[in-house]
Amino acid sequence: EKGGYEHFMLKEIYEQPRSILDSMRGRLVAESSHLMMSGVREYENKLANADRIIIVACGTSWHAGLVAEYLIEDLARIPVEVEYASEFRYRNPIITEKDIVIAISQSGETADTLAAIELAKSKGATIFGICNVVGSSIARATDAGAYTHAGPEIGVASTKAFTAQVTVLTLIAMILGSKRGTLETTKLHQLMAELESIPAKVEKALELNDQIVKISELFKDATNFLYLGRGYNFPVALEGALKLKEISYIHAEGYPAAEMKHGPIALIDEQMPVVVIATKDSSYEKIVSNVQEVKARKGKVIAIVTEGDKTIPSMADYVIEIPETSEHLMPLLSVIPLQLLSYHIAVMRGCNVDQPRNLAKSVTVE
Ligand code: F6R
Repeated sequence: EKGGYEHFMLKEIYEQPRSILDSMRGRLVAESSHLMMSGVREYENKLANADRIIIVACGTSWHAGLVAEYLIEDLARIPVEVEYASEFRYRNPIITEKDIVIAISQSGETADTLAAIELAKSKGATIFGICNVVGSSIARATDAGAYTHAGPEIGVASTKAFTAQVTVLTLIAMILGSKRGTLETTKLHQLMAELESIPAKVEKALELNDQIVKISELFKDATNFLYLGRGYNFPVALEGALKLKEISYIHAEGYPAAEMKHGPIALIDEQMPVVVIATKDSSYEKIVSNVQEVKARKGKVIAIVTEGDKTIPSMADYVIEIPETSEHLMPLLSVIPLQLLSYHIAVMRGCNVDQPRNLAKSVTVE
């Protein structure tokens, strides 16, 4: 049932061109510039008129929530707060009937996320769910929602569920932006066309596999890793670090690149691998400086760059080129090499990739 792959995780990484497509199919019709989401339609006005949106989730789903914060604030101009479900529920949060809560969960069974929903519901908020497992507890507890059509995810490390979540959240941000008039029609059409081209670009990113195997060989014995990104790639840095630590047991931290100088820079020496997600976007010039700061301290830079970039490759030790896309959609591409990197390093270290120690696929305990 692993379809010829050695592990479910690898199979699921390779399924992403299809799972992303399935998560937008029927919801995005670029030629006629239509966005259709049955789960959203009923609540479209309520969502579009919200004073703020609160996103609750855990782990990788929380990272998808962070991407959504950037998307919804930028495209739809609605304030968004992204909360760890476990912190939100225990800190006496301010919630009113005017609030919209979006809960994100692959399994739909995460205890803290479910409890956060129940709390928000008791205060009268409207709850919207983004779940992968049909009929799951969270899907049933929400007022409305949209499923990610990623298909069953068996590997404990979440991969295709993350990109499916980001795809659905992107569609929601686009719908809200066009409804509120904050996203111009031409821009909407551009983004739609770009989103349609994402599955083929993910396919291209997967062709980097052999190159990533080689890089993994060089770093498999590292004891620490730093992941840096800015803007839309900041949540990707967090996700890359989480993937590495959970399956390879290498200590890794993700940081917004600009925060490096406020502490983590002290860790950098010639032993420290630093994965920098430095694609061509609005923070590119800034991240060039961050790469210089790492190199000045002799850190080993593994850079994820946009195809054709010349500046970062002249500074980095290893370069992974991914296709160009709008910065709004970049996490869907930039996360792919990081998933592969963590996978190969874990395999080389002899770790149980699909069932890492101490972890369960659904965290139904609080
Ligand atoms: C990471 C991972 C976990 C889950 C988290 C939330 O690879 O799998 O961090 O993302 O436990 O799970 P769901 O999305 O099922 O609520």
